[in-house]
Amino acid sequence: MWDESLKAVGPEPSKISIEEYKSRQERLFSQLRPDDLLIITAPQESTRSNDVHYHYRTSSDMLYLCGWEDPEAVFTAFNKDGKWFTTLFVQPKDILQEIWEGRRPGTQGALENWPIDNAISHEDLNDSLSEMLVKCSRIIVKLGVDANVDALVDMEIKSTSRERQKFGLGPVSIIDPSRMINELRLRKSESEIEMMRHSAKIAAQAHIQAMAHTKPGVGEWQLEGIIEGLFKYCKTSGIAYPCIIGSGENATILHYTVNNDTCDDGEVLLIDAGCEYNGYASDITRSWPVNGKFSEAQAEIYQIVLDAQLAAIDQCRIGNSYDAPHKAARKVLAEGLIRLGVINQTLDEALGSDGELNKWYMHNTGHWLGIDVHDVGVYRPDNEPRLFEEGMVITVEPGLYFGAWRPDVTCPEKYANIGIRIEDDVLITRDGPDVLSGDCPKTIANIEAIVGSA
Ligand code: GLY
Ligand code: MN
Ligand code: MN
Repeated sequence: MWDESLKAVGPEPSKISIEEYKSRQERLFSQLRPDDLLIITAPQESTRSNDVHYHYRTSSDMLYLCGWEDPEAVFTAFNKDGKWFTTLFVQPKDILQEIWEGRRPGTQGALENWPIDNAISHEDLNDSLSEMLVKCSRIIVKLGVDANVDALVDMEIKSTSRERQKFGLGPVSIIDPSRMINELRLRKSESEIEMMRHSAKIAAQAHIQAMAHTKPGVGEWQLEGIIEGLFKYCKTSGIAYPCIIGSGENATILHYTVNNDTCDDGEVLLIDAGCEYNGYASDITRSWPVNGKFSEAQAEIYQIVLDAQLAAIDQCRIGNSYDAPHKAARKVLAEGLIRLGVINQTLDEALGSDGELNKWYMHNTGHWLGIDVHDVGVYRPDNEPRLFEEGMVITVEPGLYFGAWRPDVTCPEKYANIGIRIEDDVLITRDGPDVLSGDCPKTIANIEAIVGSA
């Protein structure tokens, strides 16, 4: 199963080039003033238990601007004689640490292989960063990520040293660079798209394997094991978010991650799982019958959601508003539920803010996807809806959830505990929507052919 899936995924794309990182940096620097100091931070390691850490994942902005993945890193840039000069603070070489935890590139390795002009040991951060801070007027930093950097910035802003008073030097304001960086991250380059396509291909294979291994009595956790195992086998860094693997009523809980129930005959199983490949997320959901054959009621709901998803994907076109897919999906869902007699309202009423569709479909139809699974990018800049541009990637994920356990609604008996979501990752292109996760089957016939086939 592993090698078969690996073959279907195809060759790994080449890494993001040094030139591309530098061009991302330049596009950011072009929006700064010469007296700015840019600081990109990353979270500190966090403890899982006693002296064991969680697997480290650096900040998405650090990944985007220089690709450095290790902890204790700070990226800075200041302008000198009209040229931006970048420095990366990194963990120093340390033989004892390296014997225990792994080799470190150190400052020399960082300088030789990463897109930077200078590398300094993180042990010298306080002194070196203070020197940089005192020379700038504006500090361009996102606070709240690295407490140590926050303290240095705070100290420098508040400083009333004689030097400062005499010459009027030093920083006077702090600006969050997120809006500038988020705009860059929203539009994906060719190489980013290749990473995302690869990530989605791996996630599609994981769903296919989970389908193939589904049969009554299988544990949600066992399918989670297959999915996460495949993610690792295909050389990803693992999950992009905790797997959602819900059978029966669990399928009606949007972000169910307990995954400790058995999947029973007659139930629908909903799996929402995506991996992170070279920093780029995929996010796929499929729903299928545990016994391999949709019941009539399950097929009715499934087909409505699939039709809604196809209508929404068709809206993912240059120039359309980011919420066009949501509107299209809601319309098809409402029409379908009116047709089935689940909703006894007119279409306009059903779609209204207190309409009945909200009982069974309670989330948005998509979100930006990229280095973060819920990727950055303002949806309504200047309070106007964002229009799709080439290179943006959005998920399309309508669903219907009939939670019979819910005390706030009366669930139609025929559809009790049917939870269906169908989610794909869609790239906006000049030629229309490009479904990056298109390897993952989603018609009723294709799904039934796979479920239980392992
Ligand atoms: N996997 C979480 C989501 O689809 O938003
Ligand atoms: Mn999603
Ligand atoms: Mn998802």
